Amino acid sequence: MEEKKTKRIGILTAGGDCPGLNAAIRGVGKTAIIKYGMEVIGFSSGFSGLIHKDYVTLSENQLSGILTLGGTILGTSREKPFKKTAKDLNFVNKPKLIKKTYDELALDCLVCIGGNGTQKNAAKLAEEGMNVIGIPKTIDNDVWGTDVTFGFESALTIATEAIDRLHSTANSHKRIMVIEIMGHHAGWLALYAGMAGGGDIILIPEIKYDLDAIYKYLLNRAEQKKSYSIVVVAEGIEKPKNKSAARYISQKIRNNTGLESRETILGYVQRGGSPSAMDRILATRFGAHAADLISNEDYGRMVCKNGEMIESIPLSDVGGKLRNVPLDHPLIKKARGLGICFGDAYLQK
Ligand code: F6P
Repeated sequence: MEEKKTKRIGILTAGGDCPGLNAAIRGVGKTAIIKYGMEVIGFSSGFSGLIHKDYVTLSENQLSGILTLGGTILGTSREKPFKKTAKDLNFVNKPKLIKKTYDELALDCLVCIGGNGTQKNAAKLAEEGMNVIGIPKTIDNDVWGTDVTFGFESALTIATEAIDRLHSTANSHKRIMVIEIMGHHAGWLALYAGMAGGGDIILIPEIKYDLDAIYKYLLNRAEQKKSYSIVVVAEGIEKPKNKSAARYISQKIRNNTGLESRETILGYVQRGGSPSAMDRILATRFGAHAADLISNEDYGRMVCKNGEMIESIPLSDVGGKLRNVPLDHPLIKKARGLGICFGDAYLQK
């Protein structure tokens, strides 16, 4: 009888880190080892580990005790293997080096855990003839083709708690508090944190804002003896180059309304620490599903969430697309009904 060849898979985490990466690594790795008897390799620092053949073999023991850990045990980087920059005078063919590592390690599949950029690179590696599976992660929640990414819920909890804390100090000082939330070019995190944290104004890149509408709204609140206001701004809103969104909006409010205004840039705390319970579950399900796809040799796909189901879509469909907040999103509609301002036309009652 022909002996069944054990599959050997590689895992990498690329792009900005987020809570849940270790849960996903564990989800893929444990399922691959325990359910399917595969061998698992972890590459260091994203695609850079593949280029430089920098890897470790992951045993089941090494995958234990990492579920709750923030960050990624594999490390990550912003290495873009297909990007040629002016600095690459001695151009190195990185995709070729990646293929060399893939072949030398006799990999059956490569699992790329990352955001939009990572999924795009994963699709290109598939075009180069490698078996690839993508797993979407990011606090920005902007990966096309999935209802949600892991990392988002954890970051949302952190951002909401930060906004909660601004309420009391804003009240004491009768100030406008402007808080900047991450999200890259998408407004998911600012929208959700703004709603959960009771923001009075929420500015997201998807909705064009008008500064006059913002001034009018805040002055109106002041007239109504509402002693303070919370303004939640996504980092990706339109603003002058090299200026933070929060600083810009806060300064404008100060100079044009006479109201006292302060800014907070929440920054990387949104990406750090232990994943929320839901992110642990989502990342684990994504990881386990990736291992199932590999076992079925169903390659070239990105795992995704569709309603309650974990499914997958072709990686080639995902590359280069961004998932933005739709203007008719139900949360926006409800928020408007509550009098929350999105910086666009404000109907004074
Ligand atoms: O994509 C995740 C993210 O945290 C964005 O929200 C943010 O714009 C960006 O990464 C920051 O990236 P870096 O780690 O390169 O500073």
